Amino acid sequence: MLSSTQPVTAWETYRQEFPTLERTTYLNTCSLGPLSQRSRAAMERFMATWEHYGASAWYQTWLGECAALRANFEQLINAPAGSVALAHSISSALSVVASCYPYTERSRIVTTALDFPTIPYQWLVKPGVEVVILPSEDHIQVPLEQWAAAIDDCTALVATSHVLFTSGYIQPVAELACLAHAAGAHILVDGYQAAGQLSVDVQALDVDYYLSGGLKWLLGGPGIVELYVRPELVQQLEPTITGWFAHSTMFNFDAEHFAYADDARRFELGTPALAAVHAAKAGIDLLLEIGVSAVRAREVELVCDLVDRAQEAGLPLKIPPKLEEHAGIVMFPAPDASGAVKALKQQGIIVDHRPGHVRVSPYFYNMPEENEQVIAALKPLILGR
Ligand SMILES: Cc1ncc(COP(=O)(O)O)c(C=O)c1O
Repeated sequence: MLSSTQPVTAWETYRQEFPTLERTTYLNTCSLGPLSQRSRAAMERFMATWEHYGASAWYQTWLGECAALRANFEQLINAPAGSVALAHSISSALSVVASCYPYTERSRIVTTALDFPTIPYQWLVKPGVEVVILPSEDHIQVPLEQWAAAIDDCTALVATSHVLFTSGYIQPVAELACLAHAAGAHILVDGYQAAGQLSVDVQALDVDYYLSGGLKWLLGGPGIVELYVRPELVQQLEPTITGWFAHSTMFNFDAEHFAYADDARRFELGTPALAAVHAAKAGIDLLLEIGVSAVRAREVELVCDLVDRAQEAGLPLKIPPKLEEHAGIVMFPAPDASGAVKALKQQGIIVDHRPGHVRVSPYFYNMPEENEQVIAALKPLILGR
């Protein structure tokens, strides 16, 4: 508990937004961001409008809330108005994007073995598509030379993550976009592990697609993701997986004619999860209020502190070599990672595991004392002493 005699920092004030943090040492944002009081209040507002207005809630507030979420995400990633669509998951957004390509002259997709598997899965199941999955020697990153050798004039799309969920490595997205465009290919970036904890400027990065959602660093819970599409592409692409939300005049209910919306809504499918829309908007509001550059500065301090403590304790680490390439995911090689995660849970410390590793992910609301706790608890579990 905070003592009234101690000065309360801004970070401690934001910490009070998250009741979970009173009960546990929560270092697992890269799996699931904790529920904030404002996301809870937003979902309660959603339920109140549902009860009060019934179906007319769509026109009274809900369509407006969807538009506000699209606009919030546009602001967060410096995207122009009308360039963001809502989707139900990263996988469903990928399926709509994937449906835009004919895979004739350009039938190659380039991705990596370190990407979240739902990216390659999307194309592995498509007949006639060659999926190049770049291996990683150090299991942390894929060097640019490997990308350059794989992206060619048969490549339709480079599809990869901004931050790799397996290592916390921040990929050089602007350089990858240059490589893709020089070969005449497009680039799609999954920013689920990046937006919120890193400043993202899709125009400066020069990407064609950028995805993220509430689940993790955007603090909005499951059920909704956002898809940015470069405005020039919005006009050219015609998804063949679609729904009535993609129609230019959806409320005309014209079953015989389909006409794509002029803006990124043409990438949408059907009714979004409205509770999730409310929670997700509140999450982005909080990040816009704090400012993502302040969040990143705090994240660098916490990651640095965690790594220093781990090294002092003699714990093995699998992390990017440079701090400026390291986001808020810290991987500890561990012989029994799932056992270690269970043992930590019994001590009230929530982290996660991925094959062969304990994964610890601090965020702005965590405190150095929590880093100290997790390292003290991990030491005997990993080193056996
Ligand atoms: C980088 C990344 N992409 C995608 C996903 C999940 O995608 P979906 O929304 O389809 O479940 C995750 C994890 O949940 C992830 O870490």
